[in-house]
Amino acid sequence: MKTKIILDCDPGHDDMMAIMLAASSDELEILGITTVAGNQTGDKTFENARRVLTLIERKDIPLARGADKPIIRELITAPQIHGTSGLDGAELPGPDAPYLDCHAVDFIIDTVKTSPEKVTLVPTGPLTNIGLALIKAPEIKKNIKEIVLMGGAVYDSNMTPGAEFNIFVDPEAAREVFLCGLPVTMVGLDVTNKSLMSFAQAEEISGWGGKISSVVGPLMRFFAQANLDYFGINGAPIHDALTVATLINPAVVEFENYFVDVETRGELTRGQTVADVYGVTGKKPNCRVAMRVNNRLFMSIMMDAVKKLDARLAGAV
Ligand code: BDR
Ligand code: CA
Repeated sequence: MKTKIILDCDPGHDDMMAIMLAASSDELEILGITTVAGNQTGDKTFENARRVLTLIERKDIPLARGADKPIIRELITAPQIHGTSGLDGAELPGPDAPYLDCHAVDFIIDTVKTSPEKVTLVPTGPLTNIGLALIKAPEIKKNIKEIVLMGGAVYDSNMTPGAEFNIFVDPEAAREVFLCGLPVTMVGLDVTNKSLMSFAQAEEISGWGGKISSVVGPLMRFFAQANLDYFGINGAPIHDALTVATLINPAVVEFENYFVDVETRGELTRGQTVADVYGVTGKKPNCRVAMRVNNRLFMSIMMDAVKKLDARLAGAV
């Protein structure tokens, strides 16, 4: 049976790859895609999601726009990594994909409530929509299987010396999610900063010349260059797609169980995911944390996904 997911995202290069991987997979059924402000403003991440769905010809996937800003803070975006559009580096079509006339938070609540099977939530942006859904309708928890999120880290960071971007942007929402009592999986920078598509692999993809690959290759090249210029990371860390990949083939990462809380008040540590690695709090682990990644396996999953979408759109399958 397919795992039913709602993908809550802020496209974003790696969010786009997460959508593509989920849409190409036989193991997952996408009940809907919801967008949130993060990598860019709410209008841009929403339009980018529409463009991606237009490109991959999946206008059938329900799409709902969500929060334009964090629960109590001002929005911070990441143009230094994703450009002014949020998806700089190639032309995407559209945006032609239709969308629902309801807020993402209400879509999440209604979809979870009415699903005959438990739903897996897969947030790959700031946790505003998910946090708000859990606050507004805590009863949905009984029909959520788990929350598998991209965000945070035990030892790594990218926004401040202590925090990862998604958690930093909306730490109050993140705390709501980590402490909600449901099984939470954190796919954070400890693994995603090592989940690299090389410049050579991006060029190889461009060379395939298919409808998807000819867009993905240049976008990954842009993303790799931004990461090289800004962080000195040699390749494109496809953070959000690794999160989806753990649902398709869990062998792509190795997990440890830790108690994880989120710092919301620290002067230097806002948005830090504080993991009790040594069990010093005595608190029961609330989180499965991805700590090691098999990047060779992950890249083969990603290359296969792009090939599969190319073939599907060429009418070969
Ligand atoms: C996360 O922040 C965003 O820029 C990416 O899309 C990813 O979700 C990585 O820290
Ligand atoms: Ca993201």
